[in-house]
Amino acid sequence: MDINVVDNYSELSEKAAAIVVNEVNCRPDTVLGLATGSTPEGMYAQLVKKYQERKVDFSDLITFNLDEYSGLSTEHPQSYHYYMHKHFFDHINIKSHNINIPHSEDRDIAHACGEYDRKIIEAGGINLQILGIGVNGHIGFNEPAEHLNTGTHLVDLSDETIAANSRFFNSRDDVPYQAITMGVGSIMHAEKILVMACGKNKARAIQLMCCGKVTTNLPASLLQLHRCVTLLLDREAASLLE
Ligand code: GLP
Repeated sequence: MDINVVDNYSELSEKAAAIVVNEVNCRPDTVLGLATGSTPEGMYAQLVKKYQERKVDFSDLITFNLDEYSGLSTEHPQSYHYYMHKHFFDHINIKSHNINIPHSEDRDIAHACGEYDRKIIEAGGINLQILGIGVNGHIGFNEPAEHLNTGTHLVDLSDETIAANSRFFNSRDDVPYQAITMGVGSIMHAEKILVMACGKNKARAIQLMCCGKVTTNLPASLLQLHRCVTLLLDREAASLLE
């Protein structure tokens, strides 16, 4: 793993955006795996800025988002559909048919999940996957468990994740208890992976991810098995690393 520690959030966001811009400029039809959450917000703002400055063109970009809550409409302000359009897609020139986000509203979820995986394969796989990390070491919404799924699937969110994400909702009871997430197989098949983390509350998960045993009980630890992972951490998230 290539571990990079930066001084603050704006540096983290700028560096992450620079990696994405470089990827897209080298290969305009890049397939990007995208993450949500508070961590990548600054990166998206930087990417929009770079687009406005004409330093990057997203017209051939293809994206696959990692996950989506189950039971929220795409217009719900806390849905990841809404998030992605608000922070990124509505401000750039990506073609709408090149945007892929798991759909929780499909009646036949198993079929929709299979289709999502099929589309990723059809696109040639993910070139660069952006990841955040949960306080419990989840990636996407792949929660710590005895077994993990390789493909896209419906998952029960852990109490820890519901508690962590309740800050975005009016109350804990409003947080969906299920989500659709890309599986660890699709994530691990990405050519390159960029993990971003900031804040003290991520330090333990980062420590276990980098230096702990590889275990499904900390899904991010599987990234130790991947050949091309770059980590962008602020000082607090990196504080428990040697
Ligand atoms: C969320 C998302 C993840 C994200 C993580 C961290 O629940 N499913 O994809 O990486 O939790 O979020 P944040 O960046 O807000 O800490």
